[in-house]
Amino acid sequence: MPSNIKSASGSWVRSNVTLTGKTVVITGANTGIGLETAIDLVKRDARVIIACRSLERAGEAKGRVIKETECDDSKIIVKHLDLSSFDSIKQFAADINETEERLDILINNAGVMLCPEGKTKDGFEIQFGVNHLGHFLLTNLLLDLIKRSAPSRIVVVSSGAHKQCGKIRWNDLNMSKNYSAGDAYCQSKLMNVLFVKELAARLEGTNVSAYALHPGVVQTDLWRHLYDGNVSCWRSCLNCCMYPIRKAAFKTAVHGAQTSIYCAIAPELENVSGKYFSDCKITNESNAAKKLDEAKRLWEVSEELTGLSS
Ligand SMILES: NC(=O)c1ccc[n+]([C@@H]2O[C@H](COP(=O)([O-])OP(=O)(O)OC[C@H]3O[C@@H](n4cnc5c(N)ncnc54)[C@H](OP(=O)(O)O)[C@@H]3O)[C@@H](O)[C@H]2O)c1
Repeated sequence: MPSNIKSASGSWVRSNVTLTGKTVVITGANTGIGLETAIDLVKRDARVIIACRSLERAGEAKGRVIKETECDDSKIIVKHLDLSSFDSIKQFAADINETEERLDILINNAGVMLCPEGKTKDGFEIQFGVNHLGHFLLTNLLLDLIKRSAPSRIVVVSSGAHKQCGKIRWNDLNMSKNYSAGDAYCQSKLMNVLFVKELAARLEGTNVSAYALHPGVVQTDLWRHLYDGNVSCWRSCLNCCMYPIRKAAFKTAVHGAQTSIYCAIAPELENVSGKYFSDCKITNESNAAKKLDEAKRLWEVSEELTGLSS
């Protein structure tokens, strides 16, 4: 039986797959799609580590998971991870590699969108640094443990916005010329899909699968910067007027989590890797995201920028 069921509001995971004995890491799971994904996977008896930049917000999220699932305290673990800092990523990965015997599912969920122009601790444009480079480094540092836990999965939360980026700006990855927060976000999400393509190719024969996905258009904190000074005044006003419409038309966070949950658990995906999903099914990515030579180039450049190749 397929793991998902189509309803009027899109696809819902109806599978009763359980994850007893499995360990999951979800980045940015103190709110939004990541938090709802954590709640679902804990209900399936997984042990879920939420990797968050604010221990205070993560602590509150842990309280919500325990309240909603009535799980044991040991089923939901909070750890600090700031994806805008290579040092923090290395510390987090070292801790996981030292303390965990297995890692069955890694969900690269954290993300920032349209944030004010800024740099990560290591000097990269923030959306490029957090959405792509941070997760690239994290995944690579956890890869041996994930391979040892096979069959295992890596789920990357990208976005349909990747289709708005026709080509990676190889000569200006930080978008320092003609900065556009929107272009930087779309490019980082295209990188997410290209990363999964190359990752899947490199993982062939290991029994580790990699998936990229679009969660839908979801009412979460991701949209917070639409209301600050980062966008033009008229756009900010328009966005405020649109808020009630968005609230009614967008998916809820629990609905937005369904494709992440599907990719994490669906038994029918066991022999599938490198694909892009939306509404709990394989979907066509953009032509730019299909370019395997670009995916390979992105991997090599990212290795250099994160210091993995040295
Ligand atoms: N919402 C949508 O319509 C939509 C559509 C397409 C794709 N997506 C993707 O879905 C994913 C989840 O987003 P969401 O909608 O659930 O947004 P959200 O509610 O804003 O959640 C994003 C999470 O990422 C965390 N984060 C941000 N910067 C971080 C950093 N430097 N280190 C560690 N964690 C960091 C946030 O932490 P704080 O709470 O501390 O800020 C938060 O927990 C993102 O990758 C996003 O691009 C969302």
